[in-house]
Amino acid sequence: TPLRAGPPAPIPRAMQDLSNAPQLPPEIARRRTFAIISHPDAGKTTLTEKFLLYGGAIQMAGQVRAKGEARRTRSDFMKMEQERGISVSASAMSFEWNGTWFNLVDTPGHDDFSEDTYRVLTAVDAAIMVIDGAKGVESQTRKLFEVCRLRDMPILTFCNKMDRESRDTFEIIDEIQEMLAIDVAPASWPVGQGRDFVGAYDLLRDRLNVMDRADRNVRAKNVEIAGLSDPKLADHMSPEQAETLAEEVEMARGLLPAFDGQAFREGHMTPIWFGSALNSFGVQELIQGLADHAPPPQPRPAEPRQVSPEEPKVSGFVFKVQANMDPKHRDRVAFLRLCSGHFKRGMKLHHVRSGKPMAISNPVMFLASEREVLDDAWAGDIIGIPNHGQLRIGDALTEGENLRFTGIPAFAPELLQTCRAGDPMKAKHLDKALTQFAEEGAAKVFKPQIGSGHIVGVVGQLQFEVLASRIEQEYGLPVRFEPTQFTGARWVSGPKEAVEAFMKGNKGHMAEDSDGDPVYMIRLQWDLDRIARDHPQVTLSATKEML
Ligand code: G4P
Repeated sequence: TPLRAGPPAPIPRAMQDLSNAPQLPPEIARRRTFAIISHPDAGKTTLTEKFLLYGGAIQMAGQVRAKGEARRTRSDFMKMEQERGISVSASAMSFEWNGTWFNLVDTPGHDDFSEDTYRVLTAVDAAIMVIDGAKGVESQTRKLFEVCRLRDMPILTFCNKMDRESRDTFEIIDEIQEMLAIDVAPASWPVGQGRDFVGAYDLLRDRLNVMDRADRNVRAKNVEIAGLSDPKLADHMSPEQAETLAEEVEMARGLLPAFDGQAFREGHMTPIWFGSALNSFGVQELIQGLADHAPPPQPRPAEPRQVSPEEPKVSGFVFKVQANMDPKHRDRVAFLRLCSGHFKRGMKLHHVRSGKPMAISNPVMFLASEREVLDDAWAGDIIGIPNHGQLRIGDALTEGENLRFTGIPAFAPELLQTCRAGDPMKAKHLDKALTQFAEEGAAKVFKPQIGSGHIVGVVGQLQFEVLASRIEQEYGLPVRFEPTQFTGARWVSGPKEAVEAFMKGNKGHMAEDSDGDPVYMIRLQWDLDRIARDHPQVTLSATKEML
């Protein structure tokens, strides 16, 4: 069925948050860069599809869906990963709605890719947390929420699947408040639930949104009413429902905090909307909520100084690298978050890590299902830069200044295995393949100081399988992953002499990561206790800043 979107509703001026806007050029002020976080199956894919529907990116819907379905089984997942096209174009999507420009950055759905997710979240200014109305806060929601909290990121909540039996509204709100320790302000209030779900009462604008059960892809109707005492309510709900709504809204307004824009922007309060992504219900209010309340592009921490979006000079950092659609050509797309300035195609930027200039002649922005070569972009936008491996995660591009964006971490892997080429003559190819994956951030690769081979570290078991399948696909090289004696890895730092002495005394444990930094491979927890005692000047750490 073709998807339809209605004409946009006007934004009431009074609701726009302009507190941050005056010093920003209008093109930057109208940008909202965000991610969606959720537990698998809560409805992230469906919601994404509806966003794109509103944004007019209709062709996209099928692709996003294909991905949602592929998620389900392991073999399908790997097939999906091989169809790089889908994951590349779905990594960042831009759409315009009602005068606001949205950049939606995809977070990987699978648990095993949490490090990737963490880095994606460094590239956005806000997040939407989707929860299933029947299930409430689930494990993955909670983990991702904690990551957002570390950065005090503003979070909007969408309680999905209200067309099905769901939990009591107060109970859901209580659960979020308690489990996530954040204030929850209702932006809408559901009327009925499950089969009796009628729609939601918009608490921010005092009007009723009615769900259309006949057509899932049509935008919900807004029935203009004059508050809860308007007799017109009776046309849309039973007298009991009207009574319950009036009671609950009174209770909600009395007991729950009212929406406070500042508390939201500081990450202490989340507004919650109730809806059904599948029925396109509540989606428009959510987008409107992003437009009205989510912050425009924010300053980014960097060394030696913070970078502000309104600075005229262009700067940005790479937060994700992805192999391109065609496995035969080893080109990749580096995703760059623009942090300042007005970027124009063909610009020559300074690649800070190598110190070399780089002409960005064919940057892409992912609009709808097509990658489009873009002519210009603004701070807040995500652009894809095709390259042959020069760009790595954490890299900065500037107009000359030696900036280093901070807070883009690498985490010590929790699972380690030795990787061997099926054909020993092809060890060189394996070297190359592993280097590529290390640079993409898909795995950590360590070269032991003693002995040969590579130790590959990942966060989740599934990644080994994905890697083996990609090495075979992209390099024609069958590989084996085998268990090692190591259970963890730590980056080593400290005064030069202390580190050298430490490395000398622990040769059997030492390795280098793909940047050449020293890493201590752990066998037993006891190793760490011993080091703390014997080498007090040496620091072993489980995270490292990507440079
Ligand atoms: P995810 O990306 O967060 O993992 O979730 P996804 O959107 O794929 O949705 C998971 C399942 O929940 C899908 O059903 C989807 O249709 C359903 N769903 C999403 N939003 C709603 C909603 O508002 N109401 C109801 N009732 N269901 C919803 P599925 O049967 O697993 O897949 P499919 O066959 O529908 O694609």
